[in-house]
Amino acid sequence: MKQIRTLQELNEYLSSEKQAGKTIGFVPTMGYLHEGHLQLAAQAVNKYDCVVMSIFVNPLQFGAGEDFETYPRDEQRDSRLAQNAGIDVLFIPEMEEMYPQKMTISLKVNEGADILCGKSRPGHFDGVATVVMKLFHMVEPDGAFFGQKDAQQVAVIKNMVRDFNMNIHIHTVPVVREKDGLAMSSRNIRLTAVERQEAPQIYQLLKDIVKMTEKNKTSVSSAEAKAYFQDHLHGKIDYVEILTFPDLLPPAPSYKGKLLAAAAVQYSQARLIDNIIWESG
Ligand code: PAJ
Repeated sequence: MKQIRTLQELNEYLSSEKQAGKTIGFVPTMGYLHEGHLQLAAQAVNKYDCVVMSIFVNPLQFGAGEDFETYPRDEQRDSRLAQNAGIDVLFIPEMEEMYPQKMTISLKVNEGADILCGKSRPGHFDGVATVVMKLFHMVEPDGAFFGQKDAQQVAVIKNMVRDFNMNIHIHTVPVVREKDGLAMSSRNIRLTAVERQEAPQIYQLLKDIVKMTEKNKTSVSSAEAKAYFQDHLHGKIDYVEILTFPDLLPPAPSYKGKLLAAAAVQYSQARLIDNIIWESG
């Protein structure tokens, strides 16, 4: 595995791979890798000749008072895991390489940024879209891999690729979970022992909401769902929503098709998100 920190080196390496006719797969991450990231890597390695993984904790997508400074980092461990996963290039740009000067133009996500995570993290998806757009231009991959755990992020990236005519196939990978059902996340390490015990319930409660929706044949309201979560958890419930997928709209009573049940729960040092997507009706 080649570890690359500069754009010049990345360009040199990838242009010779592309000249040799190799297809390029890309897995963008913020590091502190876990089995969820490695599942994205495995699928990328399976489908593309040369796979680039990036590790960059992107300040633009963190709001004031969020965990940019304390976001977990462990480059040595990440490098070992990426190598074992069959990654060809680990791209770890420094801040100056990604943002050599203040951005003079920014991307603004108009659709779907005022709901779910976008509502409590204003500007978050603008930051995600901006860094992913930059990374896409740097790597120019044939395909890129994103986890369904961040369902709203997938929707934003797919819209961006369509809106800006980017010729990149977006692959999505189902949520990878711990044995007890907790969705894997780099932030799980920030849970206290008591919170870690409670956290798997988020997935169980989401499953309950899905069952209730299917039983009633009409989706549970967000307020009801939120109250149901708050009854069972000590963490602070940011939102629980049931929306159509991928449009992220409130479902009409007779709606048949894909639904998303998504929740965000704030613990003392970590905000956790999880979701289930299913075919309703
Ligand atoms: P990060 O949180 O490191 O996640 C990188 C990728 O791994 C994302 O596509 C995310 O959805 C996926 N992922 C994380 N946990 C997962 C799980 N349990 N199961 C399946 N996939 C999982 O998402 C980001 O970084 C950033 O916003 C980024 C896209 C890199 C832009 O900065």
